[in-house]
Formats: sequence, C-alpha cells, structure tokens
Amino acid sequence: MNAPNARPITVPGLFEARQAGRRLAMLTAYDAGFARVFDDNGADLILVGDSLGMVVQGHDSTLPVTTQDIAYHVRAVARGLRRALLVADLPFQADATPERALEASTALLQAGAGMVKLEGAGAHKLAAIRFLGAREIPVSAHLGLTPQSVLRFGGYKVQGRDSAAAAQLRADALAVAEAGASLLVLECVPSALAAEITAASPIPTIGIGAGPHCDGQVLVLHDMLGLDTGHRRPKFVKDFLAEGGSVAGAVQAYVAAVRDGSFPGPEHAY
Ligand code: KIV
Repeated sequence: MNAPNARPITVPGLFEARQAGRRLAMLTAYDAGFARVFDDNGADLILVGDSLGMVVQGHDSTLPVTTQDIAYHVRAVARGLRRALLVADLPFQADATPERALEASTALLQAGAGMVKLEGAGAHKLAAIRFLGAREIPVSAHLGLTPQSVLRFGGYKVQGRDSAAAAQLRADALAVAEAGASLLVLECVPSALAAEITAASPIPTIGIGAGPHCDGQVLVLHDMLGLDTGHRRPKFVKDFLAEGGSVAGAVQAYVAAVRDGSFPGPEHAY
C-alpha cells in the first residue's frame, strides 16, 4: 500500500525507477472508484485506454472511441488519483496529423492526464510525437499488437514473430524514442524480442503479453480481476482477484508480482 504522503510519479520518475531496477506496475481504469483503489494499493501508472470501447462500451474493437469519450473517463479517473501518473490514449485517428494530435492531447491534459499514448511508428506518428514533445506534452508510444490496426492485422494477433517483422519492431522502438517518446508499451510480442527491445531502448518499456523482461507491466482492469468481458481471454492475462480475495488485495498481489518479476510467468508469454 502507498503511504498517504507518497510522492506523485512523474515522467522523470519513470526513468529513475528504471535506473533503480524498480519495475513499474500499470493498470487501466475508467472511473474514480477503481482509480482510487488502484492508486492506494501501489499502481504507479493508470491508463485510460481506448480499451474502454470494448470493456466499458461493449464494442468489438477500439475504433469507435472518441477523444470526448477518453476525456470523460480521464476527468473521472483523475479525481481518484493522488500518486499514480495518469496516461490517456489518443483514440483512432486523433493522431492522424500532428495538429489533430495536439488538439486532442491538449484536451486530455486539461482533463487531468499527465501523458498521452499513441499507437504505431509510421511517419505521421513520429511527426506527431515530435510535435507534441516540442509543445511540452509527454508521450508514450505503443508498438506490437496495436489494436487500432486490427483491420490491417486481420485480428488480434501476436506481432514480430518472423525476422523481418522483429527487425521492423526493433527499428520502430528506437525511432519512437528518438522522436521524443518517454515510455513504450509493447503489446503481444515474443518475450525474447521484448527483452532485446528493452535492453536497447533509451526509454522505459511496459509490457502486456510481452514477457517478463520489460521495465514494467500493464493489464486491463477487467482482465486483472478475471471479469468476463465477452471477448476471448488472451493467454497473457491473470485473475489476481482469485488470489487477492478483494479488489484491493488483487491490486496488491498484481503490484507485488510485477515488482518481484513473478508476473508474467512463462505461461503468460509468447
Ligand atoms: O487501451 C488499452 O487499454 C491499452 C492497453 C491494453 C495497453 O492500450
């Protein structure tokens, strides 16, 4: 649990944690109540993810989510936080141009986020990361299985399995850092590749379905609590409620397992 006077997590604090070898525990949240419990029980980062389109709104993908949707949930979550750094997703096409990304990111920071996250490393994404960074907006990149690319991928599939795709991911990871991202989420990539990317990355990495060698881990709230969302349960999720006995206990168990490296285990990795 956090001491009531625990220092808030800042962007430089993410680099200090990495330097100190202290793994970062991140969870998604969409309302003030869960945000408060997650924050009180040790989560370092809270993500208002566009996963809300699937787990809160009941869509089949994240594509219908708007900046207004994310901003609504950011305002609620921000009211529940004292310590954790609040990251907000730029939803589908909100980063289609640097100017659109600036407009959406400004709204999300003004709603209470401390960082925005965007998916991919195409030329316009790198331009958006540079544009935001130059305007004092901290950015997290997101590579691997980027759910906004579901139509091109043809489903939610592990990425970077063959050597060409792995080489592209390695190059993209360096490119987003060079463009000014402060954090990199790696989703559904083989553990060995995530380990290589993390070792070469100048910025902290957060894994989800990316094995145990990232600088931190993230799970969607519903997956961490074993809730049935109506979607297929991916291999990388673990029900911490079963072990923790309460929501607070589940968060404590998750944070402890991330910190000591016991989650994710080999059974959660690709
Ligand atoms: O939208 C989301 O919740 C995410 C996480 C799965 C990383 O992007």
